[in-house]
Amino acid sequence: MAALAVAAHLTRQRKRKSRAEDDAVTRRDWGLGGAPADPSVAAPLPSLLAPRRLRAAGFALGRRPSPRGEAQGERRRTRRGSRGEASRTAAGGDGAAAESHPPPPRTPRAKFVYGNYKAYYGYRYARAADGSPRGPEPRVRALREELFRGKDCLDVGCNAGRLTVDVALRYGCRSMLGVDIDARLIAKANALLRAPPAPAAPRSNADFKALLLRPAVRFVHCNFVQQPRCAALPPAASLDTVLCLSTSKWVHLNFGDAGVRCLFRRAYDCLRPGGHFVLEPQPWSSYRKRANLTPCIALHYKQIQLRPHQFVECLLGEIGFRSVEELEVPYAEEDSAGFKRRPLLVLTK
Ligand SMILES: C[S@@+](CC[C@H](N)C(=O)[O-])C[C@H]1O[C@@H](n2cnc3c(N)ncnc32)[C@H](O)[C@@H]1O
Repeated sequence: MAALAVAAHLTRQRKRKSRAEDDAVTRRDWGLGGAPADPSVAAPLPSLLAPRRLRAAGFALGRRPSPRGEAQGERRRTRRGSRGEASRTAAGGDGAAAESHPPPPRTPRAKFVYGNYKAYYGYRYARAADGSPRGPEPRVRALREELFRGKDCLDVGCNAGRLTVDVALRYGCRSMLGVDIDARLIAKANALLRAPPAPAAPRSNADFKALLLRPAVRFVHCNFVQQPRCAALPPAASLDTVLCLSTSKWVHLNFGDAGVRCLFRRAYDCLRPGGHFVLEPQPWSSYRKRANLTPCIALHYKQIQLRPHQFVECLLGEIGFRSVEELEVPYAEEDSAGFKRRPLLVLTK
């Protein structure tokens, strides 16, 4: 059994290493300058003796709900034949990202074609030993208060709205609009507003004020890059901050280079001069795993020319942002290496 565990660990280690080498996403690769990271450091391995590793290797250590398992269970159920839930959207040609988003695909494997995972927040982060979440998520802590306090904000690809509400409450936005292409996720997000989870004891006076002066949070179902532009989106130059976290890959795969350019341009257009676009792009290496999710994605994957490491160049040179900086995200050691490879960028209009 122990030998099996070691073999499984070594296989995983080899896969991770080759992925890191393949992509070797470094600060310089993202167009941010700085010394290239050692790819072997980019994917730190948890100890073989970590309970999660041992469970994965088949050791029975007693039951503890695994958030990753929950997501995997969901995928298994999907394979057995449930219907997809995301709205499928036609890919657009040059400049036109999408026409509309007609009914869900039947292909079970295409269930999360937009990255519209139902249990996203359940498996994105490592949990405490007792299985409970470890407080506000690292990206929320990394964000700077001045980007949000008293500001009008938009979250593109808000999923079930958890992070959106966290940011709005923690930093006291004046208004926050979350948009997502998946109507069910938006329904979940709206349910969050109707019955917000009992807030943790306010951590500071600022938190307390944020709870009292609850900002106007709204969620709207829309494809951010659809053509023509969704009427529910804020008018030009009306926002201070646009968030777009871990969503660019899905826009890219479903709508191609034209879709990503449309995403960047629309974010830019919504912002007031001096406003900020907070972007967490996924690296190119993570695209390959999803490259055959649908025929449309497979086609776009082959045609992509604007790779994620060229985004900064595009945002500054083509779209018109004035500057870019990277925020440090306080990930825990045991958080997934894949998520740690994503930079958190702040672009200023
Ligand atoms: C991987 S999740 C990220 C969720 C959240 N932003 C975060 O990082 O915690 C990507 C989200 O983007 C949404 N999405 C993908 N394409 C979209 C589009 N064209 N317009 C709006 N939302 C989109 C998906 O439905 C999904 O909820």
